[in-house]
Amino acid sequence: MRNRGKQVVVISSLCKSFEIGDVSIRAIDNIDFTVAEGELVAIRGPSGAGKTTLLNIIGGLDSPTSGEIWVLGQNLTECDEEYLATFRCAYIGFVFQSYNLISTLTTTENIAFPMELAQWPEAHIKGRTKELLEMVGLLHRANHFPSQLSGGEQQRVAFARALANNALLILADEPTGNLDMKTSKIIISIFERLKTAGKTQIVVTHDKEILQLADRVVHIKDGRTIQA
Ligand SMILES: Nc1ncnc2c1ncn2[C@@H]1O[C@H](COP(=O)(O)OP(=O)(O)O)[C@@H](O)[C@H]1O
Ligand SMILES: [Mg+2]
Repeated sequence: MRNRGKQVVVISSLCKSFEIGDVSIRAIDNIDFTVAEGELVAIRGPSGAGKTTLLNIIGGLDSPTSGEIWVLGQNLTECDEEYLATFRCAYIGFVFQSYNLISTLTTTENIAFPMELAQWPEAHIKGRTKELLEMVGLLHRANHFPSQLSGGEQQRVAFARALANNALLILADEPTGNLDMKTSKIIISIFERLKTAGKTQIVVTHDKEILQLADRVVHIKDGRTIQA
């Protein structure tokens, strides 16, 4: 992997438009910013500002219309789908707003899934899954399916899954929105712990506690970064 120093994310003149019929929606309008290794960057802004679109592009789930996006020294716009899937699985932990758990898999199986994809030995997967279940306080829900879990519990499974492969970059989209206090506290303590461990994290959030924990807050409005 090409060495870009300590920058984990480099975003340059990034634009993203969605075409719906004759209408073009400019979701990201010429954004530039970088995230250094070990930083916890919070992204905030009103609904429709382009936060999710930006996170999806950083996570290699969507591609920009123009501009550049480098993650861990890799120019994502130069990668094909297959490589991007492998890259995401190995290096990026994504916590989606809607959890995106696999409904036919139990808690344990959902958490183990990225490790199976990365072909870790069974013994490692078993040990790591137990460790993550403990971390998110869900040992007693190990064999439940997502439909049998509360929203907060599903969010914690989503977190454990995002951390499974020990990703270098953690991306989370409004992780404490609509959550119970207990889950919010657990999730904030995970961010704290990951920050102490020097993990790079980008979190879309309005949560006061996460904003306080952040090294930097990037404000986005109408697809642009603004000075708060
Ligand atoms: N897949 C899509 N197709 C068309 N428009 C989209 C799509 N995704 C997002 N948008 C539009 O892009 C803008 C930014 O959306 P989004 O990134 O979801 O904002 P935020 O997460 O800040 O609420 C909105 O106007 C939204 O309607
Ligand atoms: Mg959003």
